[in-house]
Amino acid sequence: MSQTVYLNGTFLPLDQATIPVLDRGFIFGDGVYEVIPVYSGQPFRLDEHLQRLQQSLQAVRIRNPLLLEQWHEITLSIVKANAELTDQSLYLHITRGVAPRDQAFPPAELAPTVLVMSLPLETPAKSLVAQGVEAISALDIRWDRCHIKAISLLANVLLKQQAVDAGVAETIMFREGMLTEGTSSNIFAVEQGVLLAPPKDQHMLPGITYDVVLELAATNGIEVSIGPVSEARIRTADELWMTSSTKEVLAIISLDNQPIGTGQPGPLFKRMYTLYQNFKNTVMRQQVPHG
Ligand code: PDD
Repeated sequence: MSQTVYLNGTFLPLDQATIPVLDRGFIFGDGVYEVIPVYSGQPFRLDEHLQRLQQSLQAVRIRNPLLLEQWHEITLSIVKANAELTDQSLYLHITRGVAPRDQAFPPAELAPTVLVMSLPLETPAKSLVAQGVEAISALDIRWDRCHIKAISLLANVLLKQQAVDAGVAETIMFREGMLTEGTSSNIFAVEQGVLLAPPKDQHMLPGITYDVVLELAATNGIEVSIGPVSEARIRTADELWMTSSTKEVLAIISLDNQPIGTGQPGPLFKRMYTLYQNFKNTVMRQQVPHG
């Protein structure tokens, strides 16, 4: 049976959800999106994701077609409609709407296109967490507005495929010799017990998981240094991690075939992974009634 999605005010099966070819998302990649993890039927950090969505919409000057309460209702309805999936990855997608092909904005009253759907959330298996993953590096060839969660992801797609072609999990990007992020993740490094994080600027997506990791570091006495991190420091770091809503926290054990640190997930990673799982289980799982 086809899963239920929300499209422009209607709940319907995915295989019946269609958009006109003149949708500006299809024609120009003119839109923004969010990916929200759902654990035991509850969206994780929903308000923070909706706030980032609002910021992305504002940055590209698309009006938010729904009120916060409506976003809550729709996302929760989609989670319930797909309840056979305990853990889900909620996908919210808004485009500037359907209009004759012209790069200039259509009239302001045009209704944006809104899609909400849910996919199975497959967090990394325990074995992968224990083993860590490999990565390659590449120049960050993306635009100068990477803080916007834009649906136009062609550069990310090409860079991610480089990782797939190399048989590794992620491509870590550098701009002018400085770390930016992964193609679909934020990157942290560890140097002599200190957690290094690049600053939230226009060169990276301000990750919700990035915030959780920094909060957990702060509440657990882990020393953090937020600031530009050079490529040289990434290559000689004791540990590297990637974080995202779907991958949570994963250790990167090699970069361009060279081991990072000991070439195994490091002690601070193991600590953060446990802190993250405990935090997630405390705020999410325990609220779910049994039976
Ligand atoms: N991607 N940087 C980029 C470029 C991303 O696409 C993502 C997430 C992140 C991590 O952000 P968060 O912790 O809020 O998930 C960083 C999602 C998962 C995606 O596009 O599928």
